Amino acid sequence: MRSIWFDTTDNSVKVIDQRKLPHITAIEKLESVPQVITAIKDMYVRGAPLIGVTGAYGVYIAAKNIPDCKSIKFYLTAECQKLKDARPTAVNLIWAVERVFEKLNFSADIKDIINIAKKEADAIAEEEVENCRKIGEYGLPLIEEISKKKNGKTVNILTHCNAGRLACVEYGTATAPIYAAFDKEIDLHVWVDETRPLNQGARLTAYELEEKGVKHTVITDNTGGHLMQHSLVDITIVGTDRTAYTGDVANKIGTYLKALAAKDNNIPFYVALPSSTFDWEIEDGIKDIPIEKRDPDEIRYVEGFCSGKIEKVAIMPEQSAAANYAFDVTPARLITGFITERGICKANKDAILSLFPDKR
Ligand code: MRU
Repeated sequence: MRSIWFDTTDNSVKVIDQRKLPHITAIEKLESVPQVITAIKDMYVRGAPLIGVTGAYGVYIAAKNIPDCKSIKFYLTAECQKLKDARPTAVNLIWAVERVFEKLNFSADIKDIINIAKKEADAIAEEEVENCRKIGEYGLPLIEEISKKKNGKTVNILTHCNAGRLACVEYGTATAPIYAAFDKEIDLHVWVDETRPLNQGARLTAYELEEKGVKHTVITDNTGGHLMQHSLVDITIVGTDRTAYTGDVANKIGTYLKALAAKDNNIPFYVALPSSTFDWEIEDGIKDIPIEKRDPDEIRYVEGFCSGKIEKVAIMPEQSAAANYAFDVTPARLITGFITERGICKANKDAILSLFPDKR
């Protein structure tokens, strides 16, 4: 099952409500722009590429719901702005919504506008699948090389948050090279950061690796540095929500600390991303990438599965303040390289632009 799909039996867009995974597989139908916004904001869907594809289908859903109004363009511009504002950090959302919007011919028949929006959203979804597949292809030799150096002994890979198939449409970004290596029967093991506060690592990455049969161990977010000091990590591969064209990477909070520990221990630190996650305008990631601050209740309470249902429990004094920064920025100097659908490059402007000369 993909993380998002168009269901031809009832002509609707469907997603998995990832808040309930791995305990319950609940499917949600998205039929209105407010529903799409809620799905993105409340993280039924999450992960940069998936947020992008959901936003793209959001434009189609907006077009399907066009009311009798004087200006279709005015209406859709406002709906697209609402979609783009649903979450601030992942640039894929803005990119995908704008890409669909720009395809539309506002003087055309409403039926044609709907069809064009749907076709473009479908195309974005398929392209992201293919991009992730290629990220796997290009990332595989990195793992193969380590395996050879270790004479076939287990390659230990550390990853943060969920940059797997659930964060994308298929394959994932950080997980694509892992799956490619697993399919080649390379002996590997993945350290999975639990990723507080919403535990995307423990809930989603572990679930994905388990379903595929990849050896893995869930660790607390603070364990990586210790493992690296004791040669228990050979390579770190993470995803990203927005990457400046100069190489600074915004990803789930805690990524920066992993990159610092990797640098200190001389462990390669790779970021896997499709080109839709590059921000071709931002030069200084630390200064200019917007960092989402989420509800502090996500820190105050933990959700888990108990007696057949999802329960929420308080884990700190009710009166204490909590601050929920959802992402941080890892500066380019800490990153060994990027694994993209066009190949691997160093984390600097010249290397990135020589892989993507069309963005110069
Ligand atoms: O808040 P989330 O769950 O949307 O954050 C997701 C991440 O930080 C992922 O690592 C990132 O989107 C990479 S997606 C392949």
